[in-house]
Amino acid sequence: MTQDSKFDLAIIGLGYVGLPLGLQFAKSGCRVLGLDIDPAKIKEIEAGRSYIRHIPAEDVAAQVKAGRFSASSDFSLVHESEAVVICVPTPLNKNREPDISYILKTGEAIAPYLKLQGERREVEGSMGKKLVVLESTTYPGTTDEDLKKVLEKGSGLKAGVDFHLAFSPEREDPGNPQSKVAEIPKVVGGLTPACLERAKELYGKAIKKLVPVSSTRAAEATKLMENIFRSVNIALVNELKIIYGSMGIDIWEVIEAAKTKPFGFMPFYPGPGLGGHCIPIDPFYLTWKAREYGHPTRFIELAGEINTAMPDHVVARVGEALNSVGKPIKGSKILLLGLAYKADIDDDRESPSYILIEKLESKGAQVDYHDPYVPVIRKTREHSPLAGRKSVSMDTPSDLVLISTAHEQFKSHNYADLRTPLVDTRNCVLPQYRPKSYWQA
Ligand SMILES: NC(=O)c1ccc[n+]([C@@H]2O[C@H](COP(=O)([O-])OP(=O)(O)OC[C@H]3O[C@@H](n4cnc5c(N)ncnc54)[C@H](O)[C@@H]3O)[C@@H](O)[C@H]2O)c1
Repeated sequence: MTQDSKFDLAIIGLGYVGLPLGLQFAKSGCRVLGLDIDPAKIKEIEAGRSYIRHIPAEDVAAQVKAGRFSASSDFSLVHESEAVVICVPTPLNKNREPDISYILKTGEAIAPYLKLQGERREVEGSMGKKLVVLESTTYPGTTDEDLKKVLEKGSGLKAGVDFHLAFSPEREDPGNPQSKVAEIPKVVGGLTPACLERAKELYGKAIKKLVPVSSTRAAEATKLMENIFRSVNIALVNELKIIYGSMGIDIWEVIEAAKTKPFGFMPFYPGPGLGGHCIPIDPFYLTWKAREYGHPTRFIELAGEINTAMPDHVVARVGEALNSVGKPIKGSKILLLGLAYKADIDDDRESPSYILIEKLESKGAQVDYHDPYVPVIRKTREHSPLAGRKSVSMDTPSDLVLISTAHEQFKSHNYADLRTPLVDTRNCVLPQYRPKSYWQA
């Protein structure tokens, strides 16, 4: 570390990835600056509070109080930091193509502050140069083509010569209380061998095991492979669920039996459709880039097709369940349990629950939802007509209950006295708690 820098690193984008990562560095003794364009997040951190359910406020408060973690929206403070780690969103645009504009805007915002000045400039060797690391999931080539270009243009410096550049993907597992940032091995790739060394030096302060790879592209490709692997395997079990279901075989029972094989098998679970910031989106980053090389991505497309069709399967099961009690979907009241895309978290991004609400309402149903972690639906680009709708009580009368997320509360609830059908897309209700009319979907 150089003598006169105020921060060891600045984390840009204090969301589901940036906040826990920043806290981990702070806990490891680094001085961390969090930068975000959202003033509400800055305010919360300054007040020592957490805005992410699975991150305890005490963790934020302790690091802020110790002077190791602070937050700001003033990007010129990058000037005072040894390294910059970028954790901004990488969504798809409305044509389902990569939108790396958040990365590029961040690059433009930090480029003017990459130059080391005064005393710091005098420091010999690679450790005297600023390090920029991209963590956002993206296609191979983003770091060494797109980000590099913006940084060089805005700074007048040369990447790999005047500043270090690297890519290191995030492996956050939201909602898993056993998941500890420090314990998850971290893949790192540098633009040059010196860039890699500098990135290893930084991450080595907070992460126990590093996995160096030969380039930023290899690191970018590793993250995509991990998520494509999940998407394809989830599609496979979703397809098997439908096939086995029509044969009268319970896919969940089959998975439990199959996973006793001590080698060559890894369980994946079916569901009402994909959700979250990663699995529904990231594979299509590769699809887009592969076109440049003339390759179709058939597995990715097929998995996308199957997973996207799952809400239709659920709607069909809801129709059957209502039919069994002499009711049509049109005019029926449905209580949907769970808006978050995954159990026990408050993240509702890309949640299949939204698709289910929209599909059922387009058929004339009236859908209420209950989710203890999503009290009100925020405005999003995709589901703006639902914005403002509020979570109702779990006891709200309805013609059918539909479980979309396996929150602990829903798993441990006793539905045995429920007089209406219950459709369970997660196989989460214990046999003794199931009502007479219980349907898997
Ligand atoms: N959420 C996950 O579990 C997860 C896991 C692995 C990888 N990722 C990847 O990590 C990246 C970030 O994901 P996330 O879930 O943390 O997103 P997020 O939406 O929770 O957080 C992103 C943050 O960046 C801020 N931001 C947006 N534009 C900015 C800008 N120009 N300058 C500064 N801040 C800006 C937003 O205000 C927000 O606080 C994405 O590429 C995602 O694919 C996410």
